This record gives sequence, C-alpha cells and structure tokens, in this order.
Amino acid sequence: MTKGKVDALLGIVFGDEGKGKVVDYFTPQYDVVARFAGGPNAGHTIIFEGKKFVLRSIPSGIFCEGKINIIGNGCVLAPDLFMAEANELEAAGYDIKSRLHISKRAHLILPTHRVLDRAYESLKGKNKIGTTGKGIGPTYSDKAARTGLRVGDILSNFDEKYAAAKARHEQILNNIGYQYDIAEEEKLWMKGVEYMKTFQLTDSENELNALLAEGKSVLAEGAQGTMLDIDHGTYPMVSSSSTTTGGVCTGLGVAPSKIADVFGIFKAYSTRVGSGPFPVELFDATGDRIREIGHEYGAVTGRNRRCGWLDLVALKYAVEVNGVTQLIMMKSDVLDEFATIKVCTAYRKNGETLTTVPYDLSGCEAVYEELPGWQTDITGITVYSELPATLRSYIDFIERFIGVPVTIVSVGPDRNATIVRE
Ligand code: GDP
Ligand code: IMO
Ligand code: MG
Repeated sequence: MTKGKVDALLGIVFGDEGKGKVVDYFTPQYDVVARFAGGPNAGHTIIFEGKKFVLRSIPSGIFCEGKINIIGNGCVLAPDLFMAEANELEAAGYDIKSRLHISKRAHLILPTHRVLDRAYESLKGKNKIGTTGKGIGPTYSDKAARTGLRVGDILSNFDEKYAAAKARHEQILNNIGYQYDIAEEEKLWMKGVEYMKTFQLTDSENELNALLAEGKSVLAEGAQGTMLDIDHGTYPMVSSSSTTTGGVCTGLGVAPSKIADVFGIFKAYSTRVGSGPFPVELFDATGDRIREIGHEYGAVTGRNRRCGWLDLVALKYAVEVNGVTQLIMMKSDVLDEFATIKVCTAYRKNGETLTTVPYDLSGCEAVYEELPGWQTDITGITVYSELPATLRSYIDFIERFIGVPVTIVSVGPDRNATIVRE
C-alpha cells in the first residue's frame, strides 16, 4: 500500500484465482476498493467468521466498515442482479449504501443484451465460447459501437432511451429468428433501476483522483484473468473487457503513473471454465481429483471447471503484460496429497518448442517438469517457514522461472488461511 497510489490485484490466468478472498483480506490496509472491469460474469467468493458471500458486481472491500467501494466506469452492471446482490448484503446487516459508489459512466446490461448473448452463442454452435450468459459481450459491443446505455442515463428521460435500445436489439433478434420472452425479467430489471437511484451515482474518476490527491490509497480489484482479456487472452475465447493493468487505468480513469504495486494472483494449479485452448488440461483421474479437492465448480454458473497443472509459460506472459510486482499463490492446500506435481515450462506446436504464449494457443502441447509433492496437510499452517520444504522448493522454482517473488501463500478458503511471507 502506498499513499496517493493505486495498487492492482489481478487474476493472471483464466479467472477464479481467489481474487475476492485476497481483496477482502487486504481491504483494512486501503481507503478505497474499486472494480474496474467486468460485471456479473464474475463470482468472487469471500469466507469469514463462518459466513460465505459470492460477489458479482460489488467490490470485495464491502465488508470492511469505513471504506469506500467503487464500481468503476469500465464495469457493466445489470440492475436486477445488482439489486439481488445488494439486498443479500443489506439483509446480512451491511450498510452498503454508505460504502458503495457507482460510476455514472459504467454501462447497463439490458435484458435484451442477455438474450443476444444466448442467441449469439446458439448461432456459434460447436464454436460457442461458453459465456456466463450475463450479456457481457453484447453490452461491451454496444459500448464500443457508441449505442450503449450508461448508469447516468437512468437519471433523465430513461424510458425513451431504454425503448430505443430495446427496439434495436429486438430488430437484431427478429432478424436472427430467435424466440424469447423477457416480460417478467424486464419488470424486475426496471425495479432494479429504481433501486439503483437510491445509491450514490458519481463521477467516480473525479472522485478517485481527488482521493488520490489527498493521499488516500486505492486497491483496484480485477475480474476474470489475463488469459480472458479481450486483447491479451485466447481470443476469441475470451471475455469482452480489459482485465489487465491497462484496464485499471481506463476502467477507473487513473493515470499509469498512479499505479504502484501490481499483485498477480494464481492458483497452485490451473483451471478454465468455458471453451478455448488450455494446453495443461488433464483428462484423467488426476484432473478429476483436483476438481474434487479444489471444489472446482463455477461460482456463477455451477459448471465444472476444467483442471490442469500450473502453466508457467502463461504465467510469465501475464506477468509481463501486467507488470506484476508480487505474486500470490492460492489453493496450495489442494495439492497436499499428490506425490508428484508437474509444471508446464514450454509448449510443443508443429514440432517446435515455444517458450512464450503464441498468437494461437490451440494445438499447443504442454512440456512438463516434474517436482516432488509435499504430501502433508498444510491447512493449519500460519507461518511461511513452517510450510513443508518441498512446497517451498515448488515456490522457489516458480519464482526463478518468473523472476517475481511469491509474497502470499493461501492454504484454505477462509480469510485467515493466508500466509504472508516475512
Ligand atoms: P475469484 O473469482 O478470483 O474471486 O475466485 P472464486 O471465488 O471464483 O474461486 C475461488 C474459490 O476457491 C472459492 O470457492 C474460494 O472460497 C476458494 N479458495 C480461495 N482460496 C483458497 C485456498 O487457498 N484454498 C482452498 N482450498 N480454497 C480457496
Ligand atoms: P471471475 O472474476 C472464470 C469466462 C466464461 C467464458 C468467457 C466469456 O470470477 O474470475 P463472458 O460471460 O464474460 O462473456 O464469458 O469467460 N469467464 C470467467 N471464467 N472466472 C470469471 O470471473 C469469468 N468471467 C468470464 O466462462 O469462458
Ligand atoms: Mg470467480
């Protein structure tokens, strides 16, 4: 944490690395927590004092009293889902209205965006992306096409603007011949719009820059991961936003010179949800075992997450793209029982050995190095030096390969199961 600066915490693989847990853990050190990209496609799990929450659009700093949480201009927001998420937090006793500010420049996900998401997926057939169905792609498409609706639009002449956007979407859906019924969904969505008006809707970029000028510290909370980034991920099997450090600047309206630390978060192994190339994917009993122990089922969709060993080639690429200064390794405990652990240190494609992520990751086969496992239950350990020597060697291997230190190791889902390296 540096006063007057922004630190970023970014998923650097395919998402679900454990961002929510660590943002919640870090929040007491910061004044502001801000989401800069994505929307309800995210599912950030936070577990503490026997309680569990899965946040989608609301930043993971929301549980800490006295902190400002911002949904930044780079995000997309579905009023109905936002209302459900906010109601759950209010019912649990959190005064979120005083803590949460929403950028007027964030874009609105309309019910018809969600229908378009489903329609486009069905048109793609076997080439479908396997989206979360939350309307993310169509909403960001409208943003880029300059036809989107923004949060600030709900404050004046909204019915008119909404009707025009909906009519445009209906025309596309009619052309495709896609059947749908959003009557009930739309009523709830409109209730969500009214509910959103009871929140602080702000020019969040002005607000953030003023707070930084006062010497306040900001933690930017990433969504998704670098390999799902619209530019740097496995395009077209990606999400539609900028999930990287560059996205922090555009998604919050802060200058690159304001960025201090970039925390790159990854799991001790790899997972991916949805379609797309995944060279380290395991189709055997080991993959099934990792899924079972790691509970690798999507927090948003409940889908099986595809599992595999750690991919150091992808990790190194993400570290470069983001300028990662510190690494955070999550779910180390999930590998507790394995006698050997593999790590991918190169790819083989068309007879060539590749040591960087190529333009097209499909057809790449992982080349592994084998390391010994620790075969010890590490879940109760709280001090780095008490971790098994073999686990510390695994971490040394990662650090040597990537050239960036691993400063936090997570050994369980609870807020307290977090080891900060002295
Ligand atoms: P996010 O999207 O990056 O916030 O991550 P998700 O919440 O989608 O997925 C991470 C999952 O792993 C959640 O179910 C967490 O409760 C869980 N988790 C986080 N850290 C650890 C850990 O160190 N060990 C174990 N076993 N589970 C963890
Ligand atoms: P968090 O923030 C994992 C994946 C989807 C799909 C692709 C595109 O919890 O880490 P979209 O609905 O965004 O158009 O889907 O991206 N995806 C995620 N995978 N974690 C996420 O978020 C994801 N958000 C989107 O599964 O493959
Ligand atoms: Mg998630």
